[in-house]
Amino acid sequence: MGVTLVGGSVMGPFAGWGRLRGVDARQPPVDEVHIGEASEADTPDVLFVEREAFGAQEEADLVRALLSDPSAEPRLSLLARERGRPVGHVLFTAARLRDAPGSGSIAILAPLAVVPDAQGRGIGTALIELGLQLLRESGVDLVFVLGHPGYYPRHGFEPAGRLGFDAPFPIASADADAWMVQALRTEVIGVRRGQVVCADSLNQPELWRE
Ligand SMILES: CC(C)(COP(=O)(O)OP(=O)(O)OC[C@H]1O[C@@H](n2cnc3c(N)ncnc32)[C@H](O)[C@@H]1OP(=O)(O)O)[C@@H](O)C(=O)NCCC(=O)NCCS
Repeated sequence: MGVTLVGGSVMGPFAGWGRLRGVDARQPPVDEVHIGEASEADTPDVLFVEREAFGAQEEADLVRALLSDPSAEPRLSLLARERGRPVGHVLFTAARLRDAPGSGSIAILAPLAVVPDAQGRGIGTALIELGLQLLRESGVDLVFVLGHPGYYPRHGFEPAGRLGFDAPFPIASADADAWMVQALRTEVIGVRRGQVVCADSLNQPELWRE
């Protein structure tokens, strides 16, 4: 599978995380999967992907809310297309550590979605890897996710609770390993800790049950 960035630049709303470098501006061949930053005009396609992947409206509603939530900025919204068809989406939104203002840049990955007939071909992996690369280049230190403990560790995430990071709402102990973190700068782990504060649209207890 080829993955190519489209558009040459991923500035827009993501610019708040800093200037991005090294983004590939090649025009992709038609038979590849292309990943680029979703624009406002892409929103219907983004919501389509969310509905198809989850088979429900809830995640699409959450994404719609996050895309217009000032407290979620800066955010990174990446859309994957295959021959023009929207097939995958990932959203990273801003977070912070409570009682540690200005302590560095933090993001939450939520949600990640690939439409059913495109799953299992590396599109989810490509969305995560590109997202992490762009966040790293923009100076983000920590990325959190509440997700499947069988999926995210293969992308470098590890359980966050035992590293001293509490979720915005308590996670049931049986699901503790679903709350995960990845340090994009290794020296951050062991130095920073505390409770993560997420964007207002994510700040609802029912969203934090795995
Ligand atoms: C999870 C999801 C995004 C993965 O996207 P994808 O493009 O199929 O992922 P990839 O092709 O990169 O990786 C596929 C691998 O992940 C595994 N995988 C997929 N979902 C998984 C899960 N919930 N738990 C553990 N492993 C999972 C597959 O078994 C496959 O494993 P393999 O490589 O050993 O065969 C996609 O299945 C999806 O949209 N699911 C519905 C929505 C969802 O659950 N989103 C995640 C919210 S945390």
